[in-house]
Amino acid sequence: MFVFAHISDTHLGQDRADGGARALERTERVLRALDALPGELDAVVHTGDVTDHGTPEEYAQAAKLLGASRHTVLHCPGNHDARGPYRAALLDGDPDDSAPVNRLHVLPGATFAMCDSSIPGRGDGYLDDATLDWLDAALAGAHRDRPAFVCFHHPPLRLHGQYVDPIRQFGEERLAAVVERHPHVAALLCGHSHTPAVTAFAGLPLVAAPGVVSSLRMPWEGEQNGPLDYELPPMLAYHVHDDGRLTTHFRVLP
Ligand SMILES: [Fe+2]
Ligand SMILES: [Fe+2]
Repeated sequence: MFVFAHISDTHLGQDRADGGARALERTERVLRALDALPGELDAVVHTGDVTDHGTPEEYAQAAKLLGASRHTVLHCPGNHDARGPYRAALLDGDPDDSAPVNRLHVLPGATFAMCDSSIPGRGDGYLDDATLDWLDAALAGAHRDRPAFVCFHHPPLRLHGQYVDPIRQFGEERLAAVVERHPHVAALLCGHSHTPAVTAFAGLPLVAAPGVVSSLRMPWEGEQNGPLDYELPPMLAYHVHDDGRLTTHFRVLP
């Protein structure tokens, strides 16, 4: 059994006229809750929009928070992130390197391909050809007897939120062709939606984590001051992979 937490969209530095205090408090609350668990997690996955503006100051905050977790934290950038500062602060990499931030993590019980679906300067997403080639090779080289999780920020299909659907990940048929070649892929995990959602993609589970910093109201729920709700509490997902099957539990953190 492989058990891991899935968080997303911490948007550190998001200034709701409070200098980023609210985003920081909510991110700390979530990470503290994970650290305080009496049981063990095999990993914590963050599917992007780690920061709100992609500044070095915001990444310094992110590095401190994520680095202090007692768990193994895996992450990928979102549309609010910036590759150079992300690399420098979170991966000890070259701040001038603007290539996609793609990382493979081989853990004892599972493989995680953390893919960069961001397009610098834009809100929508795309896995470019270099990223898909990298993913194909990474999955081909991964242990076939362990589940592989393909993670990125932008959902590669509509989730029915008017705010997010126009800036989802496009070119998704290319991603489907890659994952269909690798039967050990167990699921695809994303963020960006700011609402927990479960659907299927290429015959596999696709789970979008809820947002830490805010929650998206669906069209039929009505909108108070816009589609994003800043009052609903942060949430997270727990994924369990067992007997060849993924089960997801969602938790509200009041
Ligand atoms: Fe976001
Ligand atoms: Fe996003």
